[in-house]
Parts: sequence; structure tokens; C-alpha cells
Amino acid sequence: MIIASSALDHIGDEFDKRHLPKRVVLFFDTNTARLFGNGLKTTLKKAEFNYHLVTVAANETAKSFRNAERVYGNLIAAGIDRSYTVLAVGGGVVGDFAGFIAASYLRGLPLIHVPTTLLAMVDSSIGGKVAINHAQGKNLIGFFYPPMLTLIDKAFLNALPTRDVYSGLAEALKYALISDEPFLRYIERHFERIAALQSPHIDTVIKKSVRAKQRIVKLDFKETMGLRATLNFGHTFGHALEKIARYKYLRHGEAVLFGMCCAASLAHAVGNIDEAAFHRIIDLAKRFPIKPSTTKKYFLDVPPKAMLENMSSDKKKSGGRLRFVLLRQLGKAYLSDDAIEAAVIVSAIRAAQQAMAL
Ligand SMILES: NC(=O)c1ccc[n+]([C@@H]2O[C@H](COP(=O)([O-])OP(=O)(O)OC[C@H]3O[C@@H](n4cnc5c(N)ncnc54)[C@H](O)[C@@H]3O)[C@@H](O)[C@H]2O)c1
Ligand SMILES: [Zn+2]
Repeated sequence: MIIASSALDHIGDEFDKRHLPKRVVLFFDTNTARLFGNGLKTTLKKAEFNYHLVTVAANETAKSFRNAERVYGNLIAAGIDRSYTVLAVGGGVVGDFAGFIAASYLRGLPLIHVPTTLLAMVDSSIGGKVAINHAQGKNLIGFFYPPMLTLIDKAFLNALPTRDVYSGLAEALKYALISDEPFLRYIERHFERIAALQSPHIDTVIKKSVRAKQRIVKLDFKETMGLRATLNFGHTFGHALEKIARYKYLRHGEAVLFGMCCAASLAHAVGNIDEAAFHRIIDLAKRFPIKPSTTKKYFLDVPPKAMLENMSSDKKKSGGRLRFVLLRQLGKAYLSDDAIEAAVIVSAIRAAQQAMAL
């Protein structure tokens, strides 16, 4: 893991250190190709790399079997052999898809993530999960495939739309809520400065988030102990909202933010956190400048029962029943084993919606 300005300038040294041939399959999406393609190609040429270019769609449709098959064909035709390393330059979509190809093509090529969205920097490029989607659900087909290296350079964020900055910030907030109460205070205190990408605040947020995720993943890499599952705080609710918004009208982080409000409400309903802690989370969530019409249509006006029905894909992943990540207190979370009655979940969702509407 390298978090630094101009992190890519030293990529040649990283290959030399590992005795790897300087050959890469360079993955972009159409946006990151347009924004960073030329710069990166120049850097690679200067460091005497050979590269083969793959560009995918700049949305969730890239993470499909059909696209994987197309790309395998392209790599075989281009004679890409095991001397190549996959370099994924983009957000979570490129990282997940290129990672999936890296894990499977010729039984696995080394993988380097170069995250270009805040969400990818603080979340998807860390922890070694790669996946594509299935018609029956997101991220259902994939691998635990740790990258050889993740290179984080915040300069990429200068081109990122504000909406995506806040989406990434929601995932950073997740780490604070589940594992680091002082980090929560930091985000509350410096919220505007972080969102404006000011130094050193944005750097601190990236570093603290990366460390929080690494700490958790190290102890429970394959998600068997219930610890890594706490990274899904707010996600059971969030995934339902994303599905209702047809993976189109909500950013992942926005859905997770609303989901965390519901999850906090549930933790309050079962008596873990008090009213003040619940409202602290709601007050912070309200500072995210999500369009009121979006908030209304895809959260406040969504019937709680519809949310519950749309949690089916999470149910499948956890053995046929819903398991919730609950806060024990601010900065501490656990995967609950308790069967929570539908009526309790529905009223917790309603309470979160009412609090957010005030
Ligand atoms: N593997 C994991 O552990 C993990 C964790 C969280 C999320 N994910 C996955 O990540 C994906 C979401 O990732 P995301 O939010 O980064 O979305 P994304 O990859 O779709 O990127 C969002 C948009 O920003 C554009 N973009 C990327 N970098 C840019 C930049 N620097 N400047 C301007 N535009 C830029 C992209 O082209 C895209 O249009 C989902 O598919 C989700 O399943 C995976
Ligand atoms: Zn997430």
C-alpha cells in the first residue's frame, strides 16, 4: 500500500523490487481513460513498460459475465501471458472487474489497484474482494484476491464530481461509526474541509479509513468470524435502496448513508444506543448535500415494507435469513445473531425516515 502524491512515478521501482517484467494490462473505464489515459501512458513509457489497453463501460454493466468473456477473448488474441500484471485504474467498477479478470485469467495475474474515486481509495481497492454481478444480484460471482499493491494518489480526486466525493465520504463515515469514535468527531469537526479535499484533512480521512479496513480484514479475511461483516454496516438497508433505485438513481455511498441511518435507528430500537447518539448520526447524515428530490424519492418516500422485501439478495448470502450489523455504541459494531421481528425493522426504518425528514 502506497499513499502518496505522484504515487505512480515510482511504479517501475515497485516492479523491479518484485522482479516482475515491466508488462501491464492497463484497465480503464471510458471516463478514466479520457481523464488519465494519456498521462498514465506517458508515465509507463518513461519507465519502459509494455502495456496492453482494455477499456470498459463506466458503469455497473461492465461487471458482467459477457464483458468478462469479451475481455478474456481480447487478452488471448493479444497474446497476454503470465508475464503481465493487471493495473486497474478507476473506481470500484474497474477495480472489481479488472480484479476479477486478474484472479481468473490464466489462473491469476498479479493485480495492482490505482483507485481514482474516493470510494475506491477508502474501500473497494482494500481488502481483496473482486467480483462481477449476476442477474440475480450484485457481486455474487468473485474471489478473495488481494492485490499485489494499491497505489493511492489523492490528485485523481480533483476531477471527481462532488456527488462522488460525498459518496466516498459516506463509506469513511462507516469506519468511524463501526470502529473509531474519535474519527467520528474528526469528521464532524472537519466535514466541509474534507469534502473540499483540503489538506491535511482528506489525507487523514483516506489514511484512517484504509487502516480501519486493513485492521478488520487482517483478522477475518474470508468473512467467517462476523468481524469483516461489520464492514457491511448500513449495507443491508442500503442494498435494498440501491435496488429500488435500479442501481441508477442513487450512488452506492448515498444508499449506504441512508442505510446507516436505518441501522442506527435499529440499534436504538433494540436499546444499544441512546436517542442522543442516534440523532448525532442523523445530524451528520443531513450535512451530506444529497438532492432533496433524490432523498425524498429513494429514501423518505420508500415504504419500509418495500425495503424489507428488497433485502432478499442479502438474505441469500447469509443463509436464508437477514442478519444485521448493529452498533453496540458509537465506534463499536457487531454482527447480530438475533432474529429481529419484521415489525421492529419496519418501525426502525420509519423512525430513521422521520428523523431525516425533520
Ligand atoms: N471490492 C470491494 O470490496 C468493494 C467495496 C465497495 C464497493 N465496491 C464496488 O465498487 C463499485 C462502486 O465504485 P465507485 O463508487 O468508485 O463507482 P465507479 O467505479 O462507477 O465510479 C463512479 C464514476 O466516477 C468516474 N470516475 C472515476 N474516477 C474518476 C475521477 N478521478 N474523476 C472523475 N470521474 C471519475 C467513473 O468513470 C464513474 O462514472 C460498485 O460496483 C461496488 O460493488 C467493491
Ligand atoms: Zn459499501
